[in-house]
Amino acid sequence: MLNKKDLLGIKELSAEEITLILDTAGGFRDVLGRDIKKVPTLRGKTTVNLFFEPSTRTRTSFELAAKRLSTDVINFSVPTSSVVKGESLIDTALTVQALGADFIIIRHSSSGVPHLLAKKLRASVINAGDGINEHPTQALLDAFTIREKKGTIKGLHIAIVGDIAHSRVAKSNIYSLIKLGARVRLIGPPTLIPAEIADMNVKVFHKIEEGLKGADVLMTLRIQMERQDKGFFPSTEEYSKNWGLTPDRVALAKEDAIVMHPGPMNRGIEIVSEIADGPRSVILEQVTNGIAVRMAVMYLLSGYRR
Ligand code: CP
Repeated sequence: MLNKKDLLGIKELSAEEITLILDTAGGFRDVLGRDIKKVPTLRGKTTVNLFFEPSTRTRTSFELAAKRLSTDVINFSVPTSSVVKGESLIDTALTVQALGADFIIIRHSSSGVPHLLAKKLRASVINAGDGINEHPTQALLDAFTIREKKGTIKGLHIAIVGDIAHSRVAKSNIYSLIKLGARVRLIGPPTLIPAEIADMNVKVFHKIEEGLKGADVLMTLRIQMERQDKGFFPSTEEYSKNWGLTPDRVALAKEDAIVMHPGPMNRGIEIVSEIADGPRSVILEQVTNGIAVRMAVMYLLSGYRR
């Protein structure tokens, strides 16, 4: 067990705790391969998905993870809730807890919201993405996928390409992959790689061809269209020309390199379809592995003694 009430970020986890989650997820992956995919482990518990931002992968896989563990699941719908009448975030979360929630899965556009709720609630809070801060379960499913494909993470050259500055996925992955012994390369324009991240025991490249050379894992990030007008890059065409994953660029990596993307993808901008759907892509396996990893997180938090 993790002996933690909440999962707020990878920053707070040790390498041993990350490894425990990945090993536990391996057991749940076997369960998900059976005809009967459900286990009674958390029967009687209640999970509430509290998503204040859109999501396809994370929300659905938390719902499936919770159901496979036999918890009751409520998908809280913000647009039809009393949030639109002005009810505060804290009052909403306390109300959900008063209705019996044992796990609250929270996604919010403001960094730090899960940390705030974790202090106020008895329920376990799991961060499903907070602002530009962290997306811990995405990094855990990414680490699980890399370890499964490569056998280990230690010593691998892992290149992360794109909008590092605004990516909670990149931050959680940097924490996780460094703790697990990988050599992390960050590739992107200087405007999208802030100094505090460049100082995190990573190697920074401002030319994609140099950064991809000899890499074992290529992870590209979603270009956040909502930030396009902020001047971090001139245009999507320019971005694609300089930073897009194309066959010529991928060929610079190791012959057995894998290609990852957390989704949702902007095809033709950060990645071309030939690569996204090609033989090196593990993008849909990342999605599948998310269920087992999220089951592992919920199971390991359930052992916390208050
Ligand atoms: N990777 C990820 O967080 O995807 P969703 O926004 O669809 O959950």
